[in-house]
Amino acid sequence: MTTLLNKTAFITGAASGIGLAIARALLDVGAHVALADVEETALERARKSLTGLGGRVSIHVLDVTDRAAFAAAKDAAINIHGAVHLLFNNAGVNVAGPVDTRSYRDWDWVIGVNLGGVINGVQTFLPELMRHGSEAHLVNTASVGGLVGMRNLAIYNASKFGVVGLTEAIRADMKSNGMGVSVLCPGVIATALTTSERNRPAHLRNTDAEPVPTATGSGNPGGAMSPDDFAAFVLAAIRENVFWGVSHPEFRGLVEQRNQSVTSSYRGEAEPAKIEAMQALVELFQ
Ligand code: NAI
Repeated sequence: MTTLLNKTAFITGAASGIGLAIARALLDVGAHVALADVEETALERARKSLTGLGGRVSIHVLDVTDRAAFAAAKDAAINIHGAVHLLFNNAGVNVAGPVDTRSYRDWDWVIGVNLGGVINGVQTFLPELMRHGSEAHLVNTASVGGLVGMRNLAIYNASKFGVVGLTEAIRADMKSNGMGVSVLCPGVIATALTTSERNRPAHLRNTDAEPVPTATGSGNPGGAMSPDDFAAFVLAAIRENVFWGVSHPEFRGLVEQRNQSVTSSYRGEAEPAKIEAMQALVELFQ
């Protein structure tokens, strides 16, 4: 995207952490923001904290698993701002613990928000991003947990690998119309993700499985990255139209090792014609 000036961004999970920091960074460069979140009080607090930073700010109480509410929030945002140029599918939650201790409620909640919420955002907003003829960019927040499977994080990993795969496919589909597409795969960032349980709906609460504390900066000797530093990184990725938002180089070796273990598992050589036919199915990375 050549400029963020006067562009409007719709951001889910915008009342806290990464979403709020991205909103702040966008306002700083003259963009407008529609903040969406399931936490109404936190949204109001977020709006107050952004007062005086420049662009228009609207707030939209939204549970990203609710498709009708997503459509209504999109219509409201377009009414207020005229158009939406950037969509940040950022809302997310986490449940940790060995997979054999988890319940269907854990699966339904985390997959519903982290993957289902992104799917709903894509279905709701892609027509708008393609409608107005101005530059547009889709940003999905995955995690380094979408690139490497981790101990105690099976549910979160499943959701975030899903977001990475979905976003890679969208990148291929959107290539011809020039829309920017990025997937964010951060490591540890100092946010309220560790208290995700605050947003778990009553019907998905566990009655028999205790949650295990989620990852914190303590496993990261350099400390967790600040949301504001990450937001600056994200804005640079959008400006440069970079697909992979990989911000924490301490994970580079792990990602390399995993990818290497996949490719080294192939046996035999393929015929060139078959390779060519399969390459046509994907949008190759440069
Ligand atoms: P956070 O907890 O500070 O912010 C998440 C926001 O999502 C909150 O405002 C929460 O109210 C909202 N939310 C939760 N469920 C929702 C729902 N059903 N509908 C709408 N909003 C909902 O956490 P953080 O870290 O800012 O999370 C943002 C994204 O970053 C998430 O997708 C998370 O998985 C991802 N991420 C975070 C990392 C970290 O270390 N903090 C690392 C990698 C990825």
